[in-house]
Formats: sequence, structure tokens, C-alpha cells
Amino acid sequence: MAKVIIVGTQWGDEGKGKVVDLLAEKADFIVRFQGGNNAGHTLVVNGEKHIFHVIPSGILHPGKLCMVGNGVVLDPGVLLGEITRLEKAGLHVTPQNLSISLYAHVIMPYHRALDMAREKKKGRSAIGTTGRGIGPCYEDKVGRGGIRVHDLLDSAVFREKLALNLDEKNFVLRNYFGEKPLDQSEIENEYLAYGEQLRPFAGNVSQQLQIADARGRNILFEGAQGTHLDIDHGTYPYVTSSNTVAGNACCGAGIGPTRIDRVLGVVKAYTTRVGGGPFPSELLDETGERIRKIGGEFGATTGRPRRCGWLDMVVINSSVRLNGLTGLLITKLDVLSGIPKLKIGVSYNCRGCRIDDVPAQLDALEACEPVFEELPGWDEDIGNVRRWDDLPSNTKKYLKAIEEISGVRIDVISVGPGRESTIVLADPFK
Ligand code: GDP
Ligand code: IMO
Ligand code: MG
Repeated sequence: MAKVIIVGTQWGDEGKGKVVDLLAEKADFIVRFQGGNNAGHTLVVNGEKHIFHVIPSGILHPGKLCMVGNGVVLDPGVLLGEITRLEKAGLHVTPQNLSISLYAHVIMPYHRALDMAREKKKGRSAIGTTGRGIGPCYEDKVGRGGIRVHDLLDSAVFREKLALNLDEKNFVLRNYFGEKPLDQSEIENEYLAYGEQLRPFAGNVSQQLQIADARGRNILFEGAQGTHLDIDHGTYPYVTSSNTVAGNACCGAGIGPTRIDRVLGVVKAYTTRVGGGPFPSELLDETGERIRKIGGEFGATTGRPRRCGWLDMVVINSSVRLNGLTGLLITKLDVLSGIPKLKIGVSYNCRGCRIDDVPAQLDALEACEPVFEELPGWDEDIGNVRRWDDLPSNTKKYLKAIEEISGVRIDVISVGPGRESTIVLADPFK
């Protein structure tokens, strides 16, 4: 039995959905602990593509309990839409396979409106958020005025909290942003109806995990976004509004750090980023274009083209430290086939000085140029490879370089979007 955390090591979209779905086969519980429907996790099972924004990526496996922890910001309309889609596909969603924390904060229409109004006002310096109301919802949580799942289950409490919030938000929307105010009774009707639909699923996730742990069950914690989008450790302010690092799995699910056995970091074989912000190893040439095309690098949530670049080990190494990684899960290695020479960033040149970590100051990071190591590429299509020994020797060299520079072993290698397109070197639950 083991409790394993999986996090993204870059700027999101590393392929967490694919590997969580793969490893969920051995897990009994799969838990989301932060973020919201800014996430877009893609699974390809039997050739069919599924994208989940809220429901954990274990839901397609029968007999597993998927959990939405207290650290998640929950848009009930989006969650219920995902449930409806699954039901239409013949997968019955019940409290036996989905549980939602009573403590999770609820994304309200004014959070989305404020997110979009702020981005609009920022103009060229916009963060490039997903517009899903994530930041404003976390602001209310920290400001102690937020609405939680349990509030939706008590109409009197909900009405009172909504009125208080709406008073302030409408003032700001109308007078500061020049936007249309929102209507109390419309929101009331919509959200109280959501509350009734969510009621059977709502519970104490932390307690459920304690019972599962005591029974020796395997638990998988599914991170969203990536380490460099972390509100503290990421490329602030071009980050998301939650802690995306592994430590937050404990806070965001309600489990103590002594209960965790392993922390795995998902590393895309190159780098991508969607939205604004510094990206030292970005490729603005035809190689970047080729990676975007072959890798299908378009956002699973907003459809925006993702910016592409070489693998940056400065980024990965700081993720190793920030998450205490015990293993790496390499994804999208197949996308690099056919590129004659590959580059890996090993340090930065920052205004003439060599540095080995991501600087805190935005202007310093913007001035950083990666120092690259060059490796020979490979021409072979590796999509059908299932064993380490069958990988081309240059592919092995590339992987060995990642292990050597990071000091962390590779547990899983993904060579295609499908569940089957995987080389498993070590079982994280053993
Ligand atoms: P997540 O947010 O980390 O779950 O990643 P996304 O789902 O947003 O983006 C990853 C994309 O890459 C999805 O379209 C996946 O289907 C796809 N993908 C995942 N692993 C692989 C892989 O090894 N090879 C290829 N070619 N595609 C992959
Ligand atoms: P997954 O889980 C990639 C980015 C947005 C924006 C910044 C802030 O699929 O890896 P937000 O809406 O969170 O306030 O936006 O964070 N972002 C992501 N980028 N993958 C994600 O999730 C992301 N979630 C947020 O593009 O730059
Ligand atoms: Mg994604």
C-alpha cells in the first residue's frame, strides 16, 4: 500500500491526466487537492479522448473513489456538466465513485466576472488566466468571506452570504470596471439547485481518507497546474492562485505529511506554457512550431496555442527541490522523434552571471538565457515501444541525461496519449 502524490514540474499540461489515469488502476482513491476548472486533464482510453476539469482522472476505472478535496475551488455547474457527460457515456456517477469536500470553496458568477474584467483592464500586462474565476475565488477564501460547499446546502445561510458578497462585488464590477452588476435571485436559484444536486456527494474527505489509510488502501493525489505556476514558488505574478507543490496535497486533502510515501513529478520531454510570463527556453522558430503541431500543444481548457520550448532542467531541478520528488514520469517523448539535435537547458546566463536556479525577480528571470547542452536526436517512431531495451540508444541518452542532471530516477515513460503507450520502469505503489 502507498500514498503517492503526482505533480506537474513545469508550467502545467505535462500530461498529468494521462499518467494519473494509468496509475489509478492500482489506486483505490484518487484525490484532487488544489486548483479548479482552470485545469484540463486529458485521458485517451481505447482511442477515446476524455477531458476532465474537476473530476479526478481516475473516474474511468470502475471501483475507485474519486475525491475533490477542500483545497479545490469548485465550479458546481462545470462539475455537474462533467457528471452528465459521463452518465451519457454510460458511466454511472454516484457517491460510491465521487466524493466532494464540504470545505471546498465555490466559484461564483462574480468570481468569473471579476477574473475577466481584471484581465481586460490589465490589457497588455494581462496574466492570461483561464477566465474561470480561480483567482477571485481563492481571494475570498483567504479573505474569509467565501462560500463553501456546505453553504449551498443551507438556503438561509447561503442567501445571507450571497447578499453580503454580491453587495461588494457588484459595487466593484459596476463602479470600478464599468461592468454589468449580477442579479441576486438568479444566482440564488441556480446555486441552491446545484446544492441539491451536490448534496449526496458532499462529505468529509479528510475523514474518508483517514479511514482509507487505516485500511491500507492505495491513495493517489492528483496535482493540477505545475510547480512553476505555484502562487509562492512560481513565476509570480504569472502564476495561478493556489499552491501547486506537493506539500499542498496535505493541506488541500486534509491528510498529514507523515502519511505520504512518494512524490512523483510529471516532466514533459520539452517545455510548454500557456498564458503570459517568462519562459527562458521558449522556441520562437520552426522547431517550436513543429513541437506544437506534432505534440498537439493547444490548451485543453481554453484551446489557446501553447508556447513551446526546449526542456529546461533549471526549472525541473527547482521542482525536484520544491516537491521533494522521489521519481519522474516522463511524457511526450515520442514528440521529439525526428528532431536532429536536441537541447537541454542546464543553467542560465543572467546578465553575464551563471545561475542554477529560477530567480525570484521577474526582470532577472526575463533577462535569463539558458545555457544548453546538445544531444543527438533520433529518427525512429517510438510510439509502439513498451520496454526500455527497445528504445533507440539516443533516446536512452536523453533520458539518462535527465536522470543525471536531476538526480532523480525515472519511473514511467510515456510515448503516446493512450493509456497503453507507456513504459513502466517502477511501480509507484510497491
Ligand atoms: P495535463 O493538464 O497535465 O493533464 O495535460 P493536458 O491533458 O492538458 O495536455 C497533455 C496532452 O498531451 C493531452 O492532449 C494528452 O492526451 C497528450 N499526451 C499525454 N502524454 C502523451 C505522450 O506521451 N505522447 C503524446 N504524443 N501525447 C501525450
Ligand atoms: P493543468 O492542470 C497550464 C495558467 C493560465 C494562466 C495562469 C493563471 O491542465 O496543467 P488561472 O486561470 O489559474 O488564474 O490562470 O495559469 N494555467 C494553466 N496552464 N495548465 C493548467 O492546468 C493551468 N491552469 C492555469 O494559462 O497563465
Ligand atoms: Mg492541462
